[in-house]
Formats: sequence, structure tokens, C-alpha cells
Amino acid sequence: MSDKPKLIIDCDPGQDDAINLIMALAGDEFDILGITTVAGNVGLKKVTRNARLICELTGYERAMIFAGASKPLKLPLATAEFIHGKEGLDGIEIFEPALPIVSMEASDFIVEALSAANEKSITLVVTGPMTNIARALQKVPNIVGAIKEIVLMGGAFREGGNMTPSAEFNIYVDPHAAQIVFDCAAPKIVFGLDVTYQVLTGADVIERIEAIDNPVAKAALGILKSYERTDTARFNDQVAPLHDPCTMAYLLKPEIFKLKACNIQVEVDAELTRGHTAVDFWNRTELPKNSLWAYEADRDMFFDLLIDRLKLYGS
Ligand code: RIB
Ligand code: CA
Repeated sequence: MSDKPKLIIDCDPGQDDAINLIMALAGDEFDILGITTVAGNVGLKKVTRNARLICELTGYERAMIFAGASKPLKLPLATAEFIHGKEGLDGIEIFEPALPIVSMEASDFIVEALSAANEKSITLVVTGPMTNIARALQKVPNIVGAIKEIVLMGGAFREGGNMTPSAEFNIYVDPHAAQIVFDCAAPKIVFGLDVTYQVLTGADVIERIEAIDNPVAKAALGILKSYERTDTARFNDQVAPLHDPCTMAYLLKPEIFKLKACNIQVEVDAELTRGHTAVDFWNRTELPKNSLWAYEADRDMFFDLLIDRLKLYGS
């Protein structure tokens, strides 16, 4: 029985999800029980193909990949081809991976894995709409006891939204699922736009990656060079905020980030502000602090880590 930290990675690859997977799979620090996919950046078929493709590209042949929800709990699916491209992985050559998927549905896998696990023994890394996690919690609520922590990308407080003026994409797509997750008893470490907009790539990062001579680093370079076209207007430069890689960066080197205990609620009904995260950073409401909100990141430490992870594929 491995005593490495146990992870389930739930994602919607997606260019930044892909970088996050590449960071996770570079070393052998973790016992990755499964990778589950959810419709988000692009439809379920493509995000699942992309997860298989990244695992194959990194040589992670023993990947257990489970397809999950094709749409949110209650709302129609909204996607982000305008950022990630029609195939969801602009910047690299798309191929049909040989790596198969496991026939079990993702939320059923999450239930099964957590039901068989010890108390607080599995970390959920969640980098897309939280539909799979919410469905698992709805099916068997007491699986929550087996969750060590949920490390998720989503939300915004000081920053505005990136899908609407007030909502970040992952929460916007499935606000009902997000509220179920924020309300659950498991510890949550939340990386919203406030902190992901502090880890912007740039010419300095691109140059450092260009100097790494292995195929996975080259793939990451292609992805980063084509990523986040919509945000160049926001940042007046050719940059990409590395949203999802904040989750693996936290698990690998938590000192990169500063966190604060806060209550986080989600707007689920309002037309104008659906998906808004009310992050009670100044404890105005006295509501229980259901999350640790990341509010600061050390950019240099973050990108040093990314470079180190990419170099591991050449050793
Ligand atoms: O808002 C950024 C998030 O939405 C990231 O997870 C990105 O992959 C998209 O899913
Ligand atoms: Ca994502």
C-alpha cells in the first residue's frame, strides 16, 4: 500500500488543465487514483480525449481516466472555445490517443474510491466546473469524511469575472455544483482569479521553457504560446494567467501562496450575477469560514517550480 498522498484530479482540459496535469505527472510524489473529466472548456468527448492525450504525451500509461458529466447540474453547458480553441488544446498537435478510458462514470468512481478510503485520506484536485464532485456528494453524502482536502481553481473576489463581469468560468458554468462543494464539510483550498492573475506567463517564462529540450516541455511551450488570447487585452501583453496549475503548485510547494480563512457563497439564481463568489475576506457576515482563500502568490517561486517540473521529463 503506497503511503504517497492520494489524489483524484477532476478537470476539463483545457490548456491550463493540461499544464496542471503535466506538472502533476512529472514526478512520482503522488498516488493518482484517477483522472476524471467534466464538460467545461469544451464538451465532454473532447476534454476526455484531451486528458488521455496529455497522459499519453507524458508517458503516464497507467492513467485511470473516467468520463463524467456532459452538462451542469441544472443549467445548459457553456464552453470556452474562444480561449482554448475548437479542440480545447490549441498550441499542440491533436491526435486520437490509444490510452483507453475506464467504463465507470466519473462520479461513481469518486464515490467508490472515497467509500473505500480511510478518513481524510484523499485529496481532490478540481480544475473545472464542479459537477462531478457535487454529484458524488449528492449520491453518497458521507464520502465527505474520506476527503483530506479539496484543492480547487475557481471564483474571484478583488478581480472581476472572466466569463461575465462578476463570475469566473468554473463557478459560472455550474454554480449549483459549486455551492454544494463550498457547503460540504471537507477543507477547501480555493485558487481564484485574485491569485491566478498574479502568475502570468511572459517572455521571461517562455524563454526559460524554450531552453528545455524534451518533448513535453515543447508541448507545454506550444500551449502557453497560444493560450488566453482574450486576456492579452486585459494585460496589454502576450501573457497567460496559469489558473489551474496553482492547484498542483500548492500541493508541491504550498509556501508559494498566502491563504486566508473565509466564508465563500455562490450566487446561483440571479441572471446578472450568476456564478459570482461572495468571498467574505473581511468577515462581515460571521458565516462559518468554509474555505482557505488564496490571495497572494510568489510569481518567481511559482515559475521556478513549473520549470523544474518540465525539466523532469528530460531526466
Ligand atoms: O477561469 C479559469 C478556469 O476556467 C480554468 O479552470 C480554465 O481551464 C477554465 O476551466
Ligand atoms: Ca479548467
